[in-house]
Amino acid sequence: HAATDYQAEDARISQGTVAANHTGYTGSGFVDYTNIQGSYVEFTVSAAAAGPASVTLRYANGTAADRPMDLSVNGTVVAPAVSFPATADWNTWASKTVDVTLKAGSNKIRVTATTANGGPNLDRISLGTPSDTQAPTR
Ligand code: GCU
Repeated sequence: HAATDYQAEDARISQGTVAANHTGYTGSGFVDYTNIQGSYVEFTVSAAAAGPASVTLRYANGTAADRPMDLSVNGTVVAPAVSFPATADWNTWASKTVDVTLKAGSNKIRVTATTANGGPNLDRISLGTPSDTQAPTR
């Protein structure tokens, strides 16, 4: 069934800015992480019931170097140093899916840059059922 999208530009941003200086994003822009370790974007998401879910992150990385990030749920890192490898350029977006466990109701999903390069540009996350193959809607 359909995933629920949460735009990065609407999330809580620590050490990053909302930008729209590249093409192909959804919503009104994307988050440009400050090039520093520890910069993060935190989404507040809603789960109808406790249990497994998939988080698909839509990102761009127009450099040659990986931009790994820790993914935490409600304050606990559940996926350390998830790889966000290079995309063809900053206008080219790719998806990375991480399976998580949520509690019923409100949950905080935070993605934090683990290197001095900061994170990739982050367009949105999509919350779906576990291991969904989530084709981008555009
Ligand atoms: C460039 C690019 C930004 C990107 C930044 C980076 O400045 O235009 O969108 O965020 O590189 O290296 O993080």
